Amino acid sequence: MDNDMSESSEYIHGSSPEEQHRLSLLNDILNVACLKELNLRPGEKVLDFGSGLGQFTRLMARTVGGKGQVVGVERDQDQLSQAKRLADSSGEAAFVEFRQGDALEPPLSAAEWGTFDLAHTRFLLEHVPRPALVIEQMVRSVRPGGRVFVTDDDHGDFRPWPEPQGFQTLWRAYVRSYEMLGNDPYVGRRLVSLLQDGGLTSIRNSCVFFGGCAGNEGFQAIADNLIGALEGAKEAILSGELLDEKSFHAGMDGLRQWKAHPSSALWYSACCAEGFVPH
Ligand SMILES: C[S@@+](CC[C@H](N)C(=O)[O-])C[C@H]1O[C@@H](n2cnc3c(N)ncnc32)[C@H](O)[C@@H]1O
Repeated sequence: MDNDMSESSEYIHGSSPEEQHRLSLLNDILNVACLKELNLRPGEKVLDFGSGLGQFTRLMARTVGGKGQVVGVERDQDQLSQAKRLADSSGEAAFVEFRQGDALEPPLSAAEWGTFDLAHTRFLLEHVPRPALVIEQMVRSVRPGGRVFVTDDDHGDFRPWPEPQGFQTLWRAYVRSYEMLGNDPYVGRRLVSLLQDGGLTSIRNSCVFFGGCAGNEGFQAIADNLIGALEGAKEAILSGELLDEKSFHAGMDGLRQWKAHPSSALWYSACCAEGFVPH
């Protein structure tokens, strides 16, 4: 068993105000569909790994209700502070708990291990070099018969049309920036095998549509999320010499033109998988 708990990872998107705005946008786009997929029941006790700004964590808390319990674990202090601020301002601070900590060493008391009904994570596994170590902690946190539910990206599935000028070159550099940090940009397709290797049973997979087209409600937000993600990775891409600055800007201009095109469309989805901890 791989148990190097000291391994650190770098989060490519960071936690600037622009990035926090993009993460909020992503939550607006996906949360309702992700919640439906999660099939949460009132009264459940949930642990959310890499909870970010906590919007989805709070949605889970509202769904499990007062008899349930939801704890979010987030490593970045800025994300955590903003998550707490948002929970305060929406009057939900009493229903959800945010703890600072690493998904590889979750801040749980001895009595809490093995007691959660559900361990959840979304868009975290793509940011750690060894996602199996996170799954290991998720499994440890859940009671026998409880669930582990993971949602993540597969950057090989990304199909915008009409092809934005300069996009392929920019996208390749973006994907390579994940690899440069030792992370897997294609982790989405590995979710089932990660759960299987983690000892989970009755595994199923599905996906949540993360695309749209011109004229549809939400499409501008989806395009803005994409533009924001690439803009946020600019420093990593340029400092890693994965692309020169001129090509980076050409790709970004191409994307902005694509966003305004009357027949632009994006085909993309978030990969989901769940499995159960054996009794
Ligand atoms: C893309 S965001 C997703 C946030 C949230 N799960 C959501 O779907 O809105 C990933 C989050 O994981 C956090 N993160 C990255 N590595 C982490 C680690 N090793 N332990 C805990 N949090 C981590 C980042 O700071 C960031 O807030």
